[in-house]
Amino acid sequence: MIQMSRPTFGPEEERSVLDVMRSGKLAQGERVRAFEEAFAAATGAEFAVATSSGTAALFLALVAHGIGPGDEVITSPLTFIATANAIVHAGAVPVFVDVDDSLDIGSQAVARLIGPRTRALVPVHLHGNPCDLPSLAELAARHGLPLIQDACQAVGAEVAGRPLGRYGTAVYSFYATKNLTTAEGGMVTTNDPEVAGLCSSLRHQAYTNEPYVHDRVGHNLRMNEMQAAIGLVQLSRLPAITERRRRIAGYYDEAIPTARFDRPATLPGAGHVYHQYTLRLAAMNGGARPARDRVRELLAGSGIATGVYYPVPVHRQPAYRDRAAAHCPNAERACDDMYSIPIHHSLSDGEVEAVAEAVAALP
Ligand SMILES: Cc1ncc(COP(=O)(O)O)c(C=O)c1O
Repeated sequence: MIQMSRPTFGPEEERSVLDVMRSGKLAQGERVRAFEEAFAAATGAEFAVATSSGTAALFLALVAHGIGPGDEVITSPLTFIATANAIVHAGAVPVFVDVDDSLDIGSQAVARLIGPRTRALVPVHLHGNPCDLPSLAELAARHGLPLIQDACQAVGAEVAGRPLGRYGTAVYSFYATKNLTTAEGGMVTTNDPEVAGLCSSLRHQAYTNEPYVHDRVGHNLRMNEMQAAIGLVQLSRLPAITERRRRIAGYYDEAIPTARFDRPATLPGAGHVYHQYTLRLAAMNGGARPARDRVRELLAGSGIATGVYYPVPVHRQPAYRDRAAAHCPNAERACDDMYSIPIHHSLSDGEVEAVAEAVAALP
C-alpha cells in the first residue's frame, strides 16, 4: 500500500537524539534556542518560540495577543478541529467564515463578518496552500486586529515571494505526519517582541527574570531538547523536502486530467508546500458526481491510500453544536467531495507514477 505519510528520519536525526540523551540536558535549553533562531530565519520572522504542539502554539499566540473571554475570532471551518479548540481554550468564540475555491478563507468574506467583538483573524493555510495574506493583512491592519496564521500545515510556504513569517504572527505544527516533524511539537513566529516574550514566558509557567517568581498563571507547553535536536536536522532538509513535494505535485498536475479532477485554486505566485495534494470530484455531465467512497475503494484496491482532510467542517462537529448555524456551504461541499492522494517527500518516482496512473484510470 502506498501510504499517505511516512516520517523520514536518517542517521543525522538518530545521532542528534543520542547526543542529547548522553548530554544529560533533556529539558528546554540551548538546542531549543538554536532551533528557534534557525526557524525564525528560515520562515522570515524576527522571533520564534518553540512549544509542545501546534495547538499549544496557537493557544499561546492568541493569549499573547490579548484574546480572552468575550472576544470573537474569525477563522475557517475547514480545518483540523485544533484551530477552533485553541480559540475556545483561550476563552474566545470562533466565528466561522466560509472558504472559497482555494479552500481557504478570503478577505472579502472575512470583512463581512467583522463585528464589534472581533479581536483577531486566524486564517488557515489548508493542505499547505497559502491564503491571500497581503489582502488579509491589509484588512486586519485597517481594523486594528492581529493576524494570527494557522500555518500548521504550511511550513516553508510563501506568498507573493515572501515567507509567511513576514506577515503578523504564525503558528506551526511538527506533528508526525507534517512536512517537518519532531514527532510532536510546534512553533510561534512573530515580529512583535512583546508577543514573543509573552509566549516564551507563558509556555514555562510564566517565569520572570527573577527565579521562581511568576507574575501570571502560566502553563507547561515547552518543547524538549530531543525534539529540538530532530527539528534542527529536519529544518536543514526543509528546502529539499519542499522541492520534492512540489515536483511530485507538478507531475500530478500534468498526469491527472483536469477535465475529470478538480483541484483547489491557488493564488498566482503562491508557494504551496503540498502538505496534501487534494482532488475534488468533478460534476459529470448532468451534474452527478461519482461517490467518493467508491473512488477511495477503487484506489485502495490498486494499493493507493487516500485521506479526507476533513470530512466534517468544524461548525458541524458535535462539540461545536452551538456554532452549527454558521453559513458555510462551500466548506460543507468540500468535506463531501474532496480527498487527498499520497504526496510525501519519501515517495519514489515509481510510486508517484503508480498513484497518478491509478487516479487517471478511475472510471
Ligand atoms: C490546521 C491545523 N491546525 C492545528 C493543528 C494542531 O497541531 P498539533 O497537532 O501539533 O497540536 C494541526 C495539526 O495537526 C493542523 O493541521
